[in-house]
Amino acid sequence: MFNNKTVLTGVKPTGTPHLGNLVGAIKPVIDMSNEAEKAYIFIADLHALNAVRDSSLVEKWTYEVAATYMALGLDTDKAVLFRQSDVPEIYKLTVFLMNVTSKGLMNRSHAYKAVTAENEANDKHPDDGINMGLYTYPILMAADILLYNTDLVPVGQDQKQHVEMARDIAGSLNNIYGEELLVVPEPVIQKVAAAIPGLDGRKMSKSYDNYVPIFAQQKALKKLIMKIVTDSKRPEDSKDPDESTIYLLYQHFASDTEAQSMRKQFTDGGLGYGDAKKMLFELIDKTMAEPREKYYELLANPQQIEDVLMAGAEKARVVAKETVDRVSKAMLGRSV
Ligand code: TRP
Repeated sequence: MFNNKTVLTGVKPTGTPHLGNLVGAIKPVIDMSNEAEKAYIFIADLHALNAVRDSSLVEKWTYEVAATYMALGLDTDKAVLFRQSDVPEIYKLTVFLMNVTSKGLMNRSHAYKAVTAENEANDKHPDDGINMGLYTYPILMAADILLYNTDLVPVGQDQKQHVEMARDIAGSLNNIYGEELLVVPEPVIQKVAAAIPGLDGRKMSKSYDNYVPIFAQQKALKKLIMKIVTDSKRPEDSKDPDESTIYLLYQHFASDTEAQSMRKQFTDGGLGYGDAKKMLFELIDKTMAEPREKYYELLANPQQIEDVLMAGAEKARVVAKETVDRVSKAMLGRSV
């Protein structure tokens, strides 16, 4: 489905990448970038600003996200990996788009409405703590997508509305200034994301603090996996693998034979949770050993990451400039 298409996705640098991100987003994005005609993957550092107030954290998480994709084998000669803020055309297009975006559209944003609802539930002013970065988030995101003539945007379900807003905004600009100006994108929803449980059995998420970093060092990895919450079934008892966080994580890393074998041992009884956790630890540890080494090597040499990001930005800017030029000529009558 991705051949002949330009695909683009952004990753907000707001935490250390974890196994939920790996299975739900990073792996599918790397696979997709191999199939696509053109793939853009960028670190949305400007999008982090509405919440992250410490520049050293923005920098740390930006490098961690970039190093994660690089260590896991993203082909950066083929896919364009870059940092959002390194392409200054984003600021120009955002201002142009603001003028064709209705305020009512922003009012309908789920992300914004979730915060106003929470405020109201706590007897606060609905707009308490909401900055314009949060309120206009969908416009910046539309600019990300529209800048690169994107056909398809692979995202989780929670981002679908944002891509639909990008479609609306593109449609609105095309309607006023000329149909061929912006490519109208489509979301591609990655379904698996919700299925990754965290240590406590709820969805793996930074906000629940129940996550396993992708590149946790061996000792830390073992400790985290041993912390997975289980019920009180004894080793000999039969267990439902589809209810077990251990199995649900294991199956993502295991071969079919390995997964079938753990399934059977759970169902038949005979495999205790302690031993199953050990199997899970050993499998993740083995699978991640090589990329983990690469990851820490990159983080120790951030210049290597910078070189890749700068080369990516240079490639991205070629297309970004053309888009801004087209839109600027249509809206101002000249290039800016
Ligand atoms: N909003 C996305 C998220 O929170 C990140 C993002 C920013 C993005 N710009 C994008 C995703 C453009 C896809 C396309 O996950």
